[in-house]
Amino acid sequence: MRTPLVIGNWKMYGTLAEARALATGIRDGLTQLPHVEAVLCPPFTALAAVGEILAKSPIGLGAQNCHDEAAGPHTGEISPTMLLELGARTILLGHSERRREMGETDELINRKVRAVLAHGGTPVLCVGETEDERRQGLTFTTVEGQLRAGLAGVGAEDVPRIVLAYEPIWAIGTGVNATPAQAAEVHGYLRGLVSELASKEVAQGVRVLYGGSVKPENAHALLGQPEIDGALVGGASLNAQSFLAIVRNSARTGGAAKGD
Ligand code: PGA
Repeated sequence: MRTPLVIGNWKMYGTLAEARALATGIRDGLTQLPHVEAVLCPPFTALAAVGEILAKSPIGLGAQNCHDEAAGPHTGEISPTMLLELGARTILLGHSERRREMGETDELINRKVRAVLAHGGTPVLCVGETEDERRQGLTFTTVEGQLRAGLAGVGAEDVPRIVLAYEPIWAIGTGVNATPAQAAEVHGYLRGLVSELASKEVAQGVRVLYGGSVKPENAHALLGQPEIDGALVGGASLNAQSFLAIVRNSARTGGAAKGD
């Protein structure tokens, strides 16, 4: 029985005042979270402030990236322990924007995944194909390579602590979401790989989120797929009302579809 998880990825948006207002709006709209979990990932500069706002709420705090070491001479970097100290337990890793813009490799992302696990956090490993790769029939090859490399060296006992996010690059920020069937097909494939890497039981418990132009209007259909265990939301998480609507739709459909 997987509880749906909806994560808001605020990316590089928001002054402190805007972040406070957004977090407050979301917190006040979600005093109860039956059959769904929600996490907000603001920019680093707003983590402490948003953490205070969410302190007595059921909403979790997360971050968008971290370094793979606990401390060191790495100018401009933030370590997993610094994030955990602020209460940010859920950490996005391998987002396609970082792979593309910052040149993050599978090998580096794997070190980050293992570091977050070692410090007690929850890594959210993001995978996804480009439009070209999909056109060439390479979707499964791409996500399989990213998943295997991202989880290399992770013990089977730690796999249940990982969240996976399938984010087709062609769907991110474009307004064109994968269809529920397209997403579910890849989710099922990823779950099959986890089953091979760990066990069938473990794979049944791992949450696989979908990301890429999730909106209140499509959340219901996407989350209605038994293979889709939640959403990683970018643009629509910057508006309290639309994020709240996505969380509510996920609770209802996700819960019902999984017999919660
Ligand atoms: P989007 O972004 O919802 O704006 O498409 C999703 C993401 O990049 O995580």
